[in-house]
Amino acid sequence: MKILVTGGAGFIGSHTVVELQQAGMDAVVVDNLCNASEKSLQRVEAITGKKVPFYKTDILDREGLERIFSTEKIDAVIHFAGLKAVGESVQKPWEYYQNNITGTLTLVDVMRKHGVKNIIFSSSATVYGNPAFIPITEECPKGQCTNPYGWTKSMLEQILTDIQKADPEWNVILLRYFNPIGAHKSGTIGENPNGIPNNLMPYITQVAVGKLKELGVFGNDYSTPDGTGVRDYIHVLDLAAGHVKALKMIEEKAGLKIYNLGTGVGYSVLDMVKNFEDATGVKIPYVIRDRRPGDIDACYADASLAKEELGWEAQYGIKEMCADSWRWQKNNPNGYED
Ligand code: NAD
Ligand code: UD1
Repeated sequence: MKILVTGGAGFIGSHTVVELQQAGMDAVVVDNLCNASEKSLQRVEAITGKKVPFYKTDILDREGLERIFSTEKIDAVIHFAGLKAVGESVQKPWEYYQNNITGTLTLVDVMRKHGVKNIIFSSSATVYGNPAFIPITEECPKGQCTNPYGWTKSMLEQILTDIQKADPEWNVILLRYFNPIGAHKSGTIGENPNGIPNNLMPYITQVAVGKLKELGVFGNDYSTPDGTGVRDYIHVLDLAAGHVKALKMIEEKAGLKIYNLGTGVGYSVLDMVKNFEDATGVKIPYVIRDRRPGDIDACYADASLAKEELGWEAQYGIKEMCADSWRWQKNNPNGYED
C-alpha cells in the first residue's frame, strides 16, 4: 500500500512514517513545514534505511496536491496536517478554520477526483468537551469545545462522516487521540514545540534540560485524587501503531469507524512529575498556579473498542513514555535546530 501522510514531518506524523515503513508500506509525505523541520524526515530515513518521498506543499494548494496524486499512486491518506495550538486558535480563529477546514476540504476533493476514498483522520479527545462520563467511550456525546482548534476537529469529524454517508465507497476512520507524549527509542525524533511549550510533557522536559526554571501546575483544587488535572497520556509509538492497524481495516473495508486511542489510565500532573523523576532521576521543581481557563478535571479513555475491532492496544507504560521523552529532549535540547 502507498500512503500519503499529510503533516508527516510533524511529531505524530514522523513516528507514523517510521511505523509504516517498518510494516512494509510505502509512505509519501506532504507538509508545508509551518510547524516542522525537514530534518525529521532525514532522521526517519536514518532509522528505517528507506527513502521518504517528500513534497513541500500546502494542503490548501490544490494544484500542488493534484501533482502529487498524479505522480504517486496513492491508496490511502493519513491526514495529520493541521494547526494545533489551542491558545493561538483563540487569537487567530480565521487562520485555524481556513487551514484545518478548507485544507481538509481541498484535500478530500482532490482525493475523490483521483479515486482515492480512504482516509484516516487525526481527531482528538477534545471533541468530548467536558465529558459526560469517564472513562470516555466513543458513545459519549460530543461536547462544547472551548476553542476554535477543538471546533475544527469536531466539525471535520462531521464533514468526513457526511461525505462517507453520501458515498459509501469512502472508508473514513476517525481516531480520537488522548494525550500523545514519548518519542522514538532512538532519541532522534520527537516533539518540537515552537517557543514555550503549552503542553505538560514538553514543559517538564524543558525544565529538566534547564531551559525553563520550574513547572507551573495549573490548579490543585480539581475534583481528582490529588487536586491536579488527570489525563490519559499515550506513547506516540502506540499511536503510530494504531494507524497501521487502521489501514489494515481499510484494506478489508471499514466504512465509517471512530476509535479512541488512549491507554485507559489517568495520571494527574503530580503523578507525571513523580513518574518523570523516577524514570529519569532528574528533579522537576514546581509551583502551584491558577487553573488554566478551559481545562477540565479528568479525561481518560475507554479504549476497548479499538482493542476489539482494530486489534490495537497501548503497549507502553508511563515510565517508558517519560524516559523516551527525556532521551529525545536531552539529545536535542533545541529540537531540530543545531
Ligand atoms: P505537528 O504540528 O507536529 O504536525 C502537524 C504537521 O502539519 C506539521 O508538520 C505542520 O508543518 C503540518 N501542516 C500544518 N498545516 C499544514 C498545511 N496547511 N499544509 C501542509 N502541512 C501542514 O502536530 P502533531 O502533534 O504531530 O499532530 C498531528 C495531528 O494530530 C494534528 O492534526 C493534531 O491536531 C492532531 N492531534 C494532536 C494531538 C497532540 O497533542 N499532539 C492530540 C490530538 C490530535
Ligand atoms: C491538550 C490540548 C487539547 C488536546 C489534548 C490532547 C491545550 C489547552 N489543550 O489538552 O486540545 O486535545 O492536549 O493532546 O493545549 N498542565 C500544567 N502545567 C503546564 C501544562 C499543563 O499543570 O505547564 C496541566 C493541565 O492543566 C492539564 C495537564 O497538565 O491538567 C495536561 O495538559 P496538556 O498537556 O496541555 O494537555 P490537555 O490540557 O489535556
